[in-house]
Amino acid sequence: MDILIINGPNLNLLGVREPGIYGKRDFESYLEELRKRYPEHVLHYCQSNHEGDILDRLQEYGFGRVGGIVLNAGAFTHTSLAIADCISALTVPVVEVHISNVHAREAVRHHSMISGVCRGVIAGFGLDSYRLAIEALLELA
Ligand code: DQA
Repeated sequence: MDILIINGPNLNLLGVREPGIYGKRDFESYLEELRKRYPEHVLHYCQSNHEGDILDRLQEYGFGRVGGIVLNAGAFTHTSLAIADCISALTVPVVEVHISNVHAREAVRHHSMISGVCRGVIAGFGLDSYRLAIEALLELA
């Protein structure tokens, strides 16, 4: 199965950004490990700090180019009706992912614009949240 992982704003800073919350590991080395773990699947990856880029990638891949999408929309999770509308239009399942447990953090992070239009949500397991999302997509297939 082909799966697209999308990381939103500031997630290019993993390893450097607030390591007490997001950990000390950069995403690229974790992705390498994920690809080794799932040699029979193709893990596409993109990261963008720009909402429009994320919409473009969702539209490009979300009508069957991949079997599913793992999306960590970062702070756009809490603000973006445009990303929610886009996910609603797609034909492949999207799993919302967060590294941190957003519900254990500030109130502004408790609401997600996209949870209701995603297939499911995984939050709070560190980088392992991405692997759990992949497992969920593979189970659905
Ligand atoms: C995050 C949680 C968001 O609230 C935050 O804005 C992020 C990262 C997470 O992975 O825990 O950028 O999505």
